[in-house]
Amino acid sequence: MSLALLTVASVSVLSALAKSPVQRDPLSSTSPEAWEHLRREVDGRLYAGVPFAQQCFDDSTSEACLVARRAYLDETSRSNTFGAYINTQWETCQTTAEQCLLDFTDPNSALPTSPPNKCSQGSISNYYIDVRLPQDISAAFAFSRKTAVPLVVKNTGHDYKGRSSAPRSLALWTHNLRNAGVMWGEAYAFAEAHNITVVGGSDKNVGVAGGWLQGGGHGALSNSMGLGVDRVLEFKIVTPDGKFRTVNACQNEDLFFALRGGGGGTFGVVTEATILASPQVTLQAVVVSFPRPTPGSNITQELFSIIVANSIRWADEGWGGLANGFTAIYVNPLISQAKAAESMKPLIDFANRVKSENNMTSARIVATEFPSWGQFFNFFANGFVAAVGQSLALTSRLVNQDNFATAHKQQQLINALTAANAETQSLIILISPPHRFSRRGEAKKIKANNAITSVTPMWRESIYHITTVSPWNWNATTFEKKAQYQRASTAMDHLRRITPDASYVNEADVHESNHESAFWGHNFKELLRIKKKYDPEHLLDCWHCVGWNQQSPRFSCYI
Ligand SMILES: Cc1cc2nc3c(=O)[nH]c(=O)nc-3n(C[C@H](O)[C@H](O)[C@H](O)COP(=O)(O)OP(=O)(O)OC[C@H]3O[C@@H](n4cnc5c(N)ncnc54)[C@H](O)[C@@H]3O)c2cc1C
Ligand SMILES: *[C@@H]1O[C@H](CO)[C@@H](O)[C@H](O)[C@H]1NC(C)=O
Ligand SMILES: *[C@@H]1O[C@H](CO)[C@@H](O)[C@H](O)[C@H]1NC(C)=O
Ligand SMILES: *[C@@H]1O[C@H](CO)[C@@H](O)[C@H](O)[C@H]1NC(C)=O
Ligand SMILES: *[C@@H]1O[C@H](CO)[C@@H](O)[C@H](O)[C@H]1NC(C)=O
Repeated sequence: MSLALLTVASVSVLSALAKSPVQRDPLSSTSPEAWEHLRREVDGRLYAGVPFAQQCFDDSTSEACLVARRAYLDETSRSNTFGAYINTQWETCQTTAEQCLLDFTDPNSALPTSPPNKCSQGSISNYYIDVRLPQDISAAFAFSRKTAVPLVVKNTGHDYKGRSSAPRSLALWTHNLRNAGVMWGEAYAFAEAHNITVVGGSDKNVGVAGGWLQGGGHGALSNSMGLGVDRVLEFKIVTPDGKFRTVNACQNEDLFFALRGGGGGTFGVVTEATILASPQVTLQAVVVSFPRPTPGSNITQELFSIIVANSIRWADEGWGGLANGFTAIYVNPLISQAKAAESMKPLIDFANRVKSENNMTSARIVATEFPSWGQFFNFFANGFVAAVGQSLALTSRLVNQDNFATAHKQQQLINALTAANAETQSLIILISPPHRFSRRGEAKKIKANNAITSVTPMWRESIYHITTVSPWNWNATTFEKKAQYQRASTAMDHLRRITPDASYVNEADVHESNHESAFWGHNFKELLRIKKKYDPEHLLDCWHCVGWNQQSPRFSCYI
């Protein structure tokens, strides 16, 4: 669905909505004049937030509905549409079942759009500003201070914890800010054209400068080249006092610390980020993939055994990537082709043996060189696309280097990974902590430059970031949704039992226990001080964010 299809709210529509007879809340008690004033301040770029599939509830035979059905599982369409999120429960109100969803297993199904089902606003902001200028953000802060209408900051809508939506709110949509709303796919294409390397994530539609960067930012090159927060040189930001600030190692240093790991949507709205580019790298790549194992097969356990046994050495050598129960993808920008073959021999030998023993014609075993990250990414991104348009619970854990210290600990880890994967069939081992980077000269240079980050220090000691998910369909009951959150979390307990209390804020359990120490460790205290300094009135707030107010009505849709 393109932007052009969104309803552009006229003043009269805004007035009608503002007067609608709903319960007394800031949104309904704000006068049409106040909205009109805001609209003028942002040069007319104030619009109504429209659910992605609304057209199918209005007229299921319309061309607009057909477009929405076709785009329902398309990541780029969702990222480019204000009223869409990648994980659809964040469009809904999970507590009241108010929603406007299609069936992700069959977007053409007429069931969800047939009476008595109707399209509700759910957690999609009623209004949004298509942000183009710092003044737009200052105006929104002033408006929220006066009216108490909750503010939301939304970029691509990839957030796994619903931090970019809230019921009965006004959103600042940063996606069209060309210095902050750029997505990784666009940045990789730019880097490719200019013969440089930028370190980003595995997904082409995640934003470069929003939640990804401000929460940490990991990717397959992070082991050798650092996290996103290790490579950012400067931010431009509008803080809740309405001031436009330049933030770097010499100015507003406290914010520089906070924006490098403290999380998005907390300290202000970033309008620009400057990140480090490196020269183009030649990448050695190894890809092993089998068909999804059938019950009774021990291929997953054997694959995990090979990976765990070699992980410390591979991390030291510069390998990063990801693996699941039947796939392993490794890349290394630091090693020659001959060294790579020698280093990865255990994995390649294993894959060849499994392939021949099981007569697996469809198994893929590739060891090759790519002339750049961009070329590797184009090859990789086509084959591995994350779930889009589904509602799902995600949970995660950082696995410490100490988990590899003895044969016994390695066996415990293999057992935990295998058991967790058996419960959800969706475990991913992200080999993306900055292990080698944090031990090398570049990290020291950056530290000397007074660039200290606020992510949990456990990132520096970790070898894996593990995730797993559990989805549900459009018609799941609240009870069933809660069961999926629980199911994912219980699977991760296998790893929680043997690892330090640490996880990645951007890909964490919605109900992570001890989230403050798990996400930020000893950095939390300072982050809270900075939050209170720049946002004393609490104009920004989000789930499990630094200094959040759990009692806020904006969280009323969480279960
Ligand atoms: C399919 C998929 C793949 C992923 N792959 C990776 C990966 O490889 N590596 C990784 O590290 N993470 C990955 N993630 C997680 C990702 O980092 C988070 O989802 C992140 O929150 C996305 O940021 P966003 O700005 O694109 O999304 P949004 O949902 O729009 O925003 C996320 C958060 O950032 C805030 N925010 C957005 N823009 C701004 C801004 N300009 N100023 C201030 N706050 C802002 C929002 O308020 C919200 O709190 C992935 C997620 C998905 C769904
Ligand atoms: C790209 O950059 C690499 C590394 O800096 C250099 O060796 C190579 O010659 C460059 N290629 C082009 C086409 O500029
Ligand atoms: C998997 O099964 C094979 C043959 O059935 C056996 O030789 C091997 O040891 C098993 N691997 C593990 C990790 O249990
Ligand atoms: C292996 O698979 C091929 C193609 O599916 C089949 O023709 C062949 O007989 C199989 N060989 C064995 C030993 O099972
Ligand atoms: C939920 O929807 C699915 C697919 O749309 C359907 O097969 C199933 O019967 C529905 N379940 C209930 C309880 O209505």
